[in-house]
Amino acid sequence: MNWLDICALEEINALGSRIIKGPKGDIAIFRTSDDQVFALDDRCPHKGGPLSQGLIYGRRVACPLHNWQIDLESGAAQAPDVGCAHHHPTRVESGRVQLALREAG
Ligand code: FES
Repeated sequence: MNWLDICALEEINALGSRIIKGPKGDIAIFRTSDDQVFALDDRCPHKGGPLSQGLIYGRRVACPLHNWQIDLESGAAQAPDVGCAHHHPTRVESGRVQLALREAG
């Protein structure tokens, strides 16, 4: 996998997010309360809401527009809602957040 160096882990607030520009639009990188990092395209699978502005709890983010619950790891909407935000692999190496871009489809 081709890992891109994004930033230091401390540059993303716990329960916060950071946006980077991806080749196909913004990508939101989320940090959970236990310092796990996940990345999703910053578009809700419902109507494109900015997931980066949603509320993070556990391993989910609540979309700020209509409150769909999106799994941070898979991007899947929680039932009864159906849809999936595109996700990208992430890791933290020596305190640095790294991301591997994953093509859609
Ligand atoms: S756009 Fe995200 S819940 Fe509607």
